[in-house]
Amino acid sequence: MHQLPLELPTLPVLPSKTYHKKFYYLSFVTFFSKFCFMSMETSETIDNSTLPSLPEKESALLPITNDFYKTAFQFQQIMMIYESAIKQIETKLSILSKEINVSKKRNPIQNVKTRIKTPESIVQKLEKKNHPVSFDSMINNLNDIAGVRVVCPYISDIYSVKDMLLKQPDITLISENDYIECPKTSGYRSYHIVVEVPVYLSKTEHHVKVEIQLRTIAMDFWASLEHQLHYKNPEEVPESIRRELFRVAETIAMTDREMEEIAFELQALEN
Ligand code: GTP
Ligand code: MG
Repeated sequence: MHQLPLELPTLPVLPSKTYHKKFYYLSFVTFFSKFCFMSMETSETIDNSTLPSLPEKESALLPITNDFYKTAFQFQQIMMIYESAIKQIETKLSILSKEINVSKKRNPIQNVKTRIKTPESIVQKLEKKNHPVSFDSMINNLNDIAGVRVVCPYISDIYSVKDMLLKQPDITLISENDYIECPKTSGYRSYHIVVEVPVYLSKTEHHVKVEIQLRTIAMDFWASLEHQLHYKNPEEVPESIRRELFRVAETIAMTDREMEEIAFELQALEN
């Protein structure tokens, strides 16, 4: 990603004296404290004059340092850029969906879900992968801070939607994993792509990575249930449950293929 903008697009909302806002702010302090201590080189690039000042009565309430405030503010800016990248992809998918609906063809996009990685989960993943916990590190080492999931009716729809997206000139493919052709040992199936999409701010342009997971309704059903086990320690989940889940994934994959064949036959009847 390019250097962060020094001009601030919006001012952050400062907490009031109300209890729930104080609670919210304390969670905020916890989440960001790691970044405060560990991302000194990036926080030094902030121009103090661009930071809004804390009103005195508010700052007296808060157990924060100026460094914390700067770091939290920079984090907010970075996440705003990732959120904008998600919006770009969401808009592209929504336009494709509308185009298909207008042409009265069957829509290969069933639904689209998006999520932005939480600060907690960013820190956990950086630590798990032995990367430094800093802004530069999260931007360079994590591909899934911005995530989009596209659920499609049939397997072939996954490939059509992927091709429609990758054909667009402002989308750059960074990596792809076909876990449909090569399922994971858990039985997990989906098509993953990491793309870069431009986000234009008032003065700067950013090329932001977004992870897009494409899967069928059946694959999504399986993955949503299995997800609870995915991040557990292997010893916590009995082998018998893992085997059973793998078997169900195979059954689901077979059903997906059968449903697709039926769809092709129905389509042939219509033509
Ligand atoms: P993560 O650290 O899990 O993000 O893995 P990765 O960065 O090596 O990428 P990978 O392609 O393996 O997985 C990316 C994402 O796919 C995960 O964050 C999950 O959302 C999903 N995923 C991968 N494997 C599984 C699985 O076995 N079960 C489920 N439910 N989801 C999975
Ligand atoms: Mg992930």
